[in-house]
Amino acid sequence: MASGPYLHGHHASVLRSHSWRTVENSCPHLLPYLNNSSLKILDVGCGPGTITVDLATRVPQGFVYGIDPSAEVIEKAKKHAAEKGVTNVRFEVGDIFSWDKLDGVKEAGFDIVHAHQVLQHLQDPLGATKEMKRLVKPGGVLAVRDVDYSAMNWYPEHPGMRKWLDLYINVAKGLKAYPNIGKRLHAVAMEAGFLRSDIDASVAAWTFSTPEEREFWCQLWAERTVKSDYKQRALDSGFASEQDLEEIAATWREMEKKEDGWFAVINGQIICHVR
Ligand SMILES: C[S@@+](CC[C@H](N)C(=O)[O-])C[C@H]1O[C@@H](n2cnc3c(N)ncnc32)[C@H](O)[C@@H]1O
Repeated sequence: MASGPYLHGHHASVLRSHSWRTVENSCPHLLPYLNNSSLKILDVGCGPGTITVDLATRVPQGFVYGIDPSAEVIEKAKKHAAEKGVTNVRFEVGDIFSWDKLDGVKEAGFDIVHAHQVLQHLQDPLGATKEMKRLVKPGGVLAVRDVDYSAMNWYPEHPGMRKWLDLYINVAKGLKAYPNIGKRLHAVAMEAGFLRSDIDASVAAWTFSTPEEREFWCQLWAERTVKSDYKQRALDSGFASEQDLEEIAATWREMEKKEDGWFAVINGQIICHVR
């Protein structure tokens, strides 16, 4: 299967980080393009839909369509939209590789096709990029953003943090995913047929340093490591034992307590113009 299993699964510790996401903190590259209230937007791999619903509030005369293969998160996304009273959004269980099987919106093309933190989890990010490109109408844009795990940074140094990062990258690569894709989204887009001159490539970081930010970031990784689907995938990979995972979770709890703690998550982001 081109998408493969979603590495993290949708445990509460995973959804907590996805549900924190907004247009402002997760797709600043898209802000200049949300300049028309009638836009039609597709959010691929929308997860629990907080970005999707935020996008919908910015295009009140348009609509946003969110798809995700997980029925569980699509239910959460629908609930979130209902709670916010947002009606110009539609969520459907679906896979970017099976677009023609979706019975939702039969659009000739979208003004914006958006995918946030999705390509890194796919076994065929190029195929997905080609498919997303096809769904953008002329004059529209494809917007993609993904982290580059190899560029993760933190302070102060802690040997356990290096262990965490090496393990994560090995587990993801073992699943044929691309944890470092954030640095070459533009290259994938070029392979998918975009001219380099039609791609704006930039970088935006998430910073977690205040006590509240450290609590959010460190606790979710401590919990993810020993409670989410990631735990089993790490064990199955053969790169970690239960004890290794307990130690990594303890590292995150220690990092949370460090008053001078600082974490930088580097995201590569691209806007590709469809002519
Ligand atoms: C890291 S989450 C990102 C969720 C959301 N975009 C966000 O930033 O909050 C990645 C999502 O991609 C979804 N996904 C995995 N394979 C997919 C595919 N082939 N087509 C569409 N979505 C996919 C997963 O189910 C998961 O919800």
